[in-house]
Amino acid sequence: MRRKVTVVGAGNVGASLAQRLVEKEIADVVLIDIIEGIPQGKALDIMESAPVEKFDARLSGSNTYELSDGSDVIVVTAGLARKPGMSRDDLVQKNQDIVGAVVREAAPRSPDAVLIVVSNPLDAMCEVARRVSGFPRERVFGMAGILDSARMRWFIAEELDVSVESTHAFVLGGHGDTMVPLPRYSTVAGIPITKLLSKERIEAIVQRTRDGGIEIVNYYKTGSAYYAPSAAVAEMVESVLKDEKKILPCAAYLQGEYGMSEVYLGVPVKLGRRGIEEIVQIELEPAEKSALARSAEAVRELFRILTV
Ligand code: NAI
Ligand code: 2OP
Repeated sequence: MRRKVTVVGAGNVGASLAQRLVEKEIADVVLIDIIEGIPQGKALDIMESAPVEKFDARLSGSNTYELSDGSDVIVVTAGLARKPGMSRDDLVQKNQDIVGAVVREAAPRSPDAVLIVVSNPLDAMCEVARRVSGFPRERVFGMAGILDSARMRWFIAEELDVSVESTHAFVLGGHGDTMVPLPRYSTVAGIPITKLLSKERIEAIVQRTRDGGIEIVNYYKTGSAYYAPSAAVAEMVESVLKDEKKILPCAAYLQGEYGMSEVYLGVPVKLGRRGIEEIVQIELEPAEKSALARSAEAVRELFRILTV
């Protein structure tokens, strides 16, 4: 039997993700949105590309949740996206209602699913999904670190004129202005960038990574990034469904790891069929530790205004 992934929110991120998943035949996909006609139309449009693109996975669109029953993975991309001048945190009030409503419908229909949250503000929306679903922390986590690290990798590759495949980057912390890019753990062919680039160039790359989301918002003006975000979620879904056990930076609910508890924070995790199979703890220097603690405090501030 083919695996089933439900993607809620058929907007920019959701529809691109659905397209990536079926094109790679990772799973059959159900695309759900509240706007009548949109998930159905996008599903049909993408399926009509199947004969040309040569994929056999199925994509269906719906405004209700029946088709999602028994999903292996549920991805929540429903919600408002940032406009210029808006921070991710401005979205908290609106998006907690949307994410709460979505998870209340989807989770009971797929009680064994892995729940991946994308909606912003990411770390707070993960907490909404965890509280509303009642799923264990291993099965409720968020996408941000892969995107932030991919942005950093691209900036490094561009700066040094090397293949992106030779690069590695680690960005930890919350998905916001306090995210923690780690140059010491960011490498080209295994060599830390601290040995390859000047302090000033590294600082510029770190700052551009922190501003990666807003840089795209400022170009688009009416929405936020979706090509790189959908690629990042697809990598997570694939690692889960194929039990790849990739080590990827994801927003995970900490219970003592990194000396922190009851907070979602971007950390390296092992992603397999059961979801988060391990939270990998890397050694941090005092300055990195305090940056991570500051990031956790910013996430906790949002938790305090959650009403679910
Ligand atoms: P979009 O506006 O293109 O799509 C959002 C979709 O959600 C719309 O089609 C809307 O009709 C739908 N929706 C709203 N309420 C719903 C409900 N109750 N049930 C089902 N569908 C509902 O936005 P986009 O660009 O796809 O972004 C989606 C979310 O993902 C935003 O919150 C954005 O900030 C976030 N995001 C997070 C990233 C991350 O790194 N974690 C990266 C990119 C986006
Ligand atoms: C981003 O980083 C909007 O959070 C989203 O592009």
